[in-house]
Amino acid sequence: MGRLFLTTPIYYVNDLPHIGHAYTTVIADAVARWHRLRGDEVFFLTGTDEHGLKVQRAAEANGLSPSEHADRTAARFLETWKLLDIAYDDFIRTTEPRHHQSVQAFLQRIYDGGDIEPDTYEGLYCVACEGYYNESELGPGLTCPIHGRPVEHMSEQNYFFRLSRYQQPLLDWYAAHPDAVQPESKRNEALGIIRQGLDDVSITRTSLDWGVRVPWDPAHVFYVWFDALINYATAIGYGEKPDRFDAWWPAVHHIIGKDILRFHCVYWPAMCLAAGIDPPARISVHGYLLVGGEKMSKTRLNQIHPADLVADFGVDGFRHHFLRDAPFGPDGDFSYEGMVARYNSDLANNLGNLQARVATVVDRKCGGVGPAPRADSPLAEVVAAAHAHADDAWRRVAPSEALEATWRIVRETNSLLEAAEPWRAEPGPEVDAVLGDALEALRVVSILASPAVPYAAAEIWRRLGLEGRPEDQRLPDAVRWGGYPGGLQVIRGDPLFPRKQD
Ligand code: MSP
Repeated sequence: MGRLFLTTPIYYVNDLPHIGHAYTTVIADAVARWHRLRGDEVFFLTGTDEHGLKVQRAAEANGLSPSEHADRTAARFLETWKLLDIAYDDFIRTTEPRHHQSVQAFLQRIYDGGDIEPDTYEGLYCVACEGYYNESELGPGLTCPIHGRPVEHMSEQNYFFRLSRYQQPLLDWYAAHPDAVQPESKRNEALGIIRQGLDDVSITRTSLDWGVRVPWDPAHVFYVWFDALINYATAIGYGEKPDRFDAWWPAVHHIIGKDILRFHCVYWPAMCLAAGIDPPARISVHGYLLVGGEKMSKTRLNQIHPADLVADFGVDGFRHHFLRDAPFGPDGDFSYEGMVARYNSDLANNLGNLQARVATVVDRKCGGVGPAPRADSPLAEVVAAAHAHADDAWRRVAPSEALEATWRIVRETNSLLEAAEPWRAEPGPEVDAVLGDALEALRVVSILASPAVPYAAAEIWRRLGLEGRPEDQRLPDAVRWGGYPGGLQVIRGDPLFPRKQD
């Protein structure tokens, strides 16, 4: 048994939740669910990033105060996560008093240590990124390389974090922790940024009020990233509950998109070192989910909202698609046609069909009472191998691979049934044997697939006549072959996943 503190980025409240946010959050949720099945102690955190110029401007554009605007959008994120059955343990909002206190304590500690100092800064700033750029990093016409929007010239007298002092400590830390950032391509990207040389970062603003006050100079508020990153420390009691903090830190695992790699893999570990704590143990970085080949953004008007897809595919169909179809790491293109194809093949034709056909034949040949599996079933080995593979893949944050392994059980069970054709045979021991195996395979699949398709998993479990819920089972014992007791009333029910028109 282990302990896992798993996080998503905290999302800006200038945007409504779209499938890009949902992609990261569903992956993190499924990984958290897998670890809970293993009996690991899990603390899964998500939330909203509510300060900064970008949010202030979005509020103004909507004729609202920043706090009204933040309340409204945070509510939309909460609603969306409820819809998608995201089982977070804590939802943090950076406007909460607990967070203000922790940001002030964390940065005061760095200030006292001498790595925050006053200075003047002039530079080119992208409001959408809330970040400065060197001219060489910009696109044509001085545009942001991520958002394609013109950057603004800013000049400020404020406080700087001496990031430049952390080039060597960061390189040393990464050399000692070669697996900290995954996949390797993203680790190399982080090392590349560090090796290029690090400039000090301006971390306070006097030009806006919408932020956390600098405790030693209240005319300033902290720059939003230096406030936001600290949410991960706040949620486990930084500065307030030292025992709790020590229990969860640094065994943290951040899941993020590649757009915020620099902040998580360079700034944040340096801030941790400067504050006298270890950098985060693990950061998994995924690529972009593209729509029509482009990153989703408000300006491109290509955002897709989760509720629209849930209306067509259900929550399980939504979750399964994003976990199964876009391998973690590279960019992936979203397509509605691809979603229909995945839904039909994995959910309607494979899993749904297996449940329906087994329940129907048990009804016809066994009077609706499920027989027990064979001890020497050919599926026993398939199940053991799939579980081992899925466990390894979930722990590496490779959901697509984990589900591919899980669905191998579904396919092999369907093949076993097609070879034995129990629907044609006379009732008797042979029919019982193959149906018992299939019921046991379904029981195991409902546990292994529950991180991806929690509703269907619970429903299959119920239809098998089992007590409790798949998510309350514990690996590996629960998937040891032979757990289905037999003698239970099997329920047929409506199709779990009605087929979609191509
Ligand atoms: N508020 C900061 C994060 C602070 S974390 C201390 C922020 N917010 S954000 O709302 O812009 O969210 C960015 C994150 O949302 C990405 O890193 C990624 O996890 C997710 N995604 C948003 N759009 C996405 C895609 N198109 N594709 C994949 N992930 C996307 O940055």
